[in-house]
Amino acid sequence: MKITVRQGEIQKARDEALVVNFFFSGSASVKLSGATAAVDKALGGALRRVLNSGDFRGEKNRLVLLYPEGHFPAKRVLLMGLGKQADFDLEVARQVAGTAARKLQNLGVTSASTVLHGAGAGGLDVEVAAQALAEGSMLSCYRFDEYRSGDNNKSTLQQLTVIEHDKRRLAPLRRGIRCGSQIATGVCLARDLCNHPGNTATPSYLATRARGIARRTGLRCRILDEAAMRKLGMGALLGVSAGSAEPARFIVLEHGIVAGKTRRRPLVFVGKGVTFDSGGISIKSSGGMGDMKFDMCGAAAVIGAMQAVAEIGVSQPVVGIVPATENLLDGKSVKPGDVLKTMSGKTIEIDNTDAEGRLILADALTYAQRYKPAGIVDLATLTGACVVALGEHASGLMSNDDDLVAKVEAAAAVTAEKVWRLPMWPEYREQIKSPVADMKNTGGRNGGAITAAALLAEFVGSTPWVHLDIAGTAWTSKTRPYIPRGGVGVGVRLLVELARRWGSRKT
Ligand code: BES
Ligand code: MN
Ligand code: ZN
Repeated sequence: MKITVRQGEIQKARDEALVVNFFFSGSASVKLSGATAAVDKALGGALRRVLNSGDFRGEKNRLVLLYPEGHFPAKRVLLMGLGKQADFDLEVARQVAGTAARKLQNLGVTSASTVLHGAGAGGLDVEVAAQALAEGSMLSCYRFDEYRSGDNNKSTLQQLTVIEHDKRRLAPLRRGIRCGSQIATGVCLARDLCNHPGNTATPSYLATRARGIARRTGLRCRILDEAAMRKLGMGALLGVSAGSAEPARFIVLEHGIVAGKTRRRPLVFVGKGVTFDSGGISIKSSGGMGDMKFDMCGAAAVIGAMQAVAEIGVSQPVVGIVPATENLLDGKSVKPGDVLKTMSGKTIEIDNTDAEGRLILADALTYAQRYKPAGIVDLATLTGACVVALGEHASGLMSNDDDLVAKVEAAAAVTAEKVWRLPMWPEYREQIKSPVADMKNTGGRNGGAITAAALLAEFVGSTPWVHLDIAGTAWTSKTRPYIPRGGVGVGVRLLVELARRWGSRKT
């Protein structure tokens, strides 16, 4: 989808469709204003008649379609409900843009014009509202049909024009649209990586994609093969990958890191990249096992965010790290009872080979230390326990640093990607004590999301660190206003927001 901005009056736009909006009103006699009033006038009061009928009152995400007659230049008018003005915020702006765009795409409309939602009576900053419009529109129209032979001729909404009356608003509007498009493109990239089946999205595939993105955007990319991992002593990652015929890859993407120069300490993002998780020797039950192709959504989020960070040109240095492997069964697989030596030197007893995510993250978090990070954020589809605790609606957040938590929570509030903090009291560490090694890789059923984080904490030292367990939020079976079912791309917008704020010292 290409989104452009032009100055003009929307009621004069000659297009397949135009989108205007309306705040919820309990009374039908409310006065129309701005672009909506102008369109109503040009339509001879048609919008007014809709409201008078009582069929539509501007409820959030509800809409009415009109087919003007006579000399009105556009073929369709979509009146979008914004909900109550008092409840309006950035997330509503994103949702209504998404609902409108998807409706038009489903109708087969390929080009449309729209007003900017929320920057008038909604009270949003123009640039921020424009970013939300771009995100909502592009994310809602996302489709993944690569593996369907019949579907690739479905029409898409290719062109969206934002029409703005006020000249002074054009510059911030364009900035917001550009940035929102870059972020949405990063989210869609992450969704693609998530949605590809495991026989496409192997560790090598992720590495190849990362390299291609780096070449295009100017990121620096380093890929470690298994020999290089062995040299570094990444015994935990190699242990997980031992049972797989697909070689593991360790992917590093750098933005704004200048070798040899003392620059600002970078932010480091780490994403779990298990491209298929069978459980290994502690094999999962077969029902729903195919869902475990999504076990690399953390990796996808990091790669998507790094692309956006590079395209936007964020001033803060950022590094993305992805340990990528399969978790399979084989004569060479790691077994329960085995002990692995991590890159840090600490040893881990394998209690359950299905607790593999924390193992590969242990080595990735150790590797991250070489950047002397200002903060580390890792994202991982780490535990079923987190899904039990928080459901699909929030990612679990665990951390060793209140300041970094506040920053992540502030970013999450802006992007409407809910996070909820769980405690990390020392008692949980007791649960992963091992009789033979420095720790074991499970802590029993109770508090499973936290005991997993307690293992990760062993590998971050005193670096400020936030762990996001996205097991419940990374994919969805239910389509939402700008999130079609499948891979959500959760975390991309949050990471980019965090990096942008860090750069501008806004937090
Ligand atoms: N990838 C899974 C976690 C998961 C489960 C994500 C369900 C999404 C939905 C992870 O590798 C895993 O298998 N975790 C185990 C840990 C247990 C063996 C301690 C789990 O949660 O059951
Ligand atoms: Mn597992
Ligand atoms: Zn897993």
